[in-house]
Amino acid sequence: MDTEGYAATVLCYHPRQSETRTHTMNAVILAGGKGTRLRPLTLNTPKPIVPILNRPFLSLQIELLKKTGIDNVVLSLSYQPRRIEALFGDGSALGVKIHYTMEPEPLGTAGAVKNAESLLKARTVVFNGDVLSDLDLGAVLRFHEESNSKCTIVLTPVENPTAYGLVETESDGRVKRFLEKPSYDEITCDTINAGVYVLEPELLDYIPEGKNYSFERGFFPTLLRDKVPFYAYVHRGYWIDIGTPEKYLKVHRDILSGALPFEGFTPNAGGTYVDPKATVESGARIQGPGYIGEGTTVKAGATLEPYAVLGTNCRIEEGAIVGNSVLWSGVRVGAEARVRSALIGRNAHIGHHSIVDGGVVLGDKSVLTDYSRITPLDDA
Ligand code: GDD
Ligand code: MG
Repeated sequence: MDTEGYAATVLCYHPRQSETRTHTMNAVILAGGKGTRLRPLTLNTPKPIVPILNRPFLSLQIELLKKTGIDNVVLSLSYQPRRIEALFGDGSALGVKIHYTMEPEPLGTAGAVKNAESLLKARTVVFNGDVLSDLDLGAVLRFHEESNSKCTIVLTPVENPTAYGLVETESDGRVKRFLEKPSYDEITCDTINAGVYVLEPELLDYIPEGKNYSFERGFFPTLLRDKVPFYAYVHRGYWIDIGTPEKYLKVHRDILSGALPFEGFTPNAGGTYVDPKATVESGARIQGPGYIGEGTTVKAGATLEPYAVLGTNCRIEEGAIVGNSVLWSGVRVGAEARVRSALIGRNAHIGHHSIVDGGVVLGDKSVLTDYSRITPLDDA
């Protein structure tokens, strides 16, 4: 696996798992979206491989599949496929077999699975490539089997379903209605599509070939019309779609605070993970929780406030302050600079005495000259 930009030390993500019968099963991870809401971070790094504590996002999903006994994984790609393929190769570094399908033009979520049909002869698990949870996938598969379901969808409760697919169910778990991106006055329940499905292979016949077609607006409504056994499994644990800057920062905060277990995140007594190959000079103040990646240096007199995530080979100079931010690899924060509530791409340079604050997203190689201010101006 090409580890450029990621920690060579592999942290393992360990969702709750339980035993399940091993079937020959496949998985398709839908990873063809452009990640527009995470721009500019996703200009050079497609959303499926944005780092989560220095691990490419998809490796967490692949690990969940592998733990459930599914080691045949199709990555369905469209945007910057070569970068993703270069990172995972044939999957052997992760202990699975990875196949790739690539769409010259996006085929939509269901069209993408149809496009992989020749690789899917058995029961198939489908993941949206941007959701992270502590889902017990083994329990979902047992539920699928026990309810004689042809299609099982995982649901999760959220406060505001408008950004998701709203799913109404009967008391026995059968899906009653699927409504993608409902308006406020269409909200009838709080359970939404969590982006995890189990499909029997014959259902692929419902998906037209070579055509843009989605699960959400095409396939699911058709299953309901045709009264195909379509059941929902409600997951009440942790769940997040990482597709916006706010959620991307939140998932890091949740791991650091312990809300989302992430094995290998082994913080010290102060709540901060310090990579063995990181340098924290004496006289640096570290306020946990936090994460300091391999090869990163925090100079004497610098302060890390809570929720600072520093990727590999970053450098935080004397007197600088970093808090509630995710810095990708190779970021330099100059002396006396302050960086709060920011996401900063690879190899960016924040000049000394700069102030970056209040929900800032900077792309790879951004350069802020010394004394820059990216912060709301005071009225005064
Ligand atoms: N291969 C491929 N081709 N993948 C695609 C395509 C495509 O044409 N379109 C989208 N994807 C992938 C995206 O990369 C992403 O991983 C996943 O499919 C879902 O697409 P998003 O663009 O992130 O959709 P969303 O977040 O607005 O809504 C979806 O996810 C919600 C849960 O997060 C829907 O499935 C909602 O119903 C659901 O609630
Ligand atoms: Mg999404």
